[in-house]
Amino acid sequence: MRAQRQWSRQEIVAGLRGLGPWFHNIDLHGVPTAPDHFLGDYPAFKWRGFAAAVPDDLTGRTVLDIGCNGGFYAMEMKRRGADRVVAVDSDERYLAQARFAAEVLGHDIEFRRMSVYDVAQLGEKFDLVIFMGVLYHLRHPLLALDLLHRHAVGDLLLFQSMQRGPDAVAAVAPDYDFDEQAHFDQPDYPCLYFVEDRYAGDPTNWWIPNRAAAEAMLRSAGFEIVAHPEREVYLCRRSHAAAGHPPPAL
Ligand SMILES: C[S@@+](CC[C@H](N)C(=O)[O-])C[C@H]1O[C@@H](n2cnc3c(N)ncnc32)[C@H](O)[C@@H]1O
Repeated sequence: MRAQRQWSRQEIVAGLRGLGPWFHNIDLHGVPTAPDHFLGDYPAFKWRGFAAAVPDDLTGRTVLDIGCNGGFYAMEMKRRGADRVVAVDSDERYLAQARFAAEVLGHDIEFRRMSVYDVAQLGEKFDLVIFMGVLYHLRHPLLALDLLHRHAVGDLLLFQSMQRGPDAVAAVAPDYDFDEQAHFDQPDYPCLYFVEDRYAGDPTNWWIPNRAAAEAMLRSAGFEIVAHPEREVYLCRRSHAAAGHPPPAL
């Protein structure tokens, strides 16, 4: 076990300033990384809303956090006793923040720069995969879920996506006649809104599901929803093989 370095407040402040701006507000021994976050104390306030749905004791379990950003959730999983936590993000700037936070707080986490599309390279399935806040940043969201099912999720998937549209789910028939079109006009029919340019000033927002689409995509990719602790958050269990064709090798 590594001896833990003692960090002075000055060192922490200088370190986090050099790595900013931060999206995750993390308490580094009393120094917040993003005290002026536009969402408030994010993601701590969000975590409080669904923390009870995640197993309290992760002793002996492995966790993969995809799109880990500043590492908030990866570190929470270590706090719950996870044996091994691997945290990946496609953006090196966020990984540098997460490495710094984990070092200051003394959490042993394996960080890797990796896109969700390359998850097969890990060559391993994890007991719990966290896939929060990433789906709508992808040009190929269903492919990502298919790849997670095939290569990464051994048991549980903790999923979150921004949702727009109504918080209601239409009863969908197994099939419709070619001439039947009324269901496409129902706002609670599964729908992905495509963002061609940007949304909320962010050009990396591509496909935003309504609630019905988020849930249907999870099921279609082979995940059973076992808990829905808050509007956008789902705890899922790996179930049957994905409904679609096998995803192409990337
Ligand atoms: C909105 S943040 C969510 C961060 C964190 N998971 C949370 O829920 O607070 C999206 C994160 O996903 C990362 N990301 C975007 N596209 C990705 C991809 N293709 N593979 C892995 N990470 C990606 C971004 O760099 C960013 O850190």
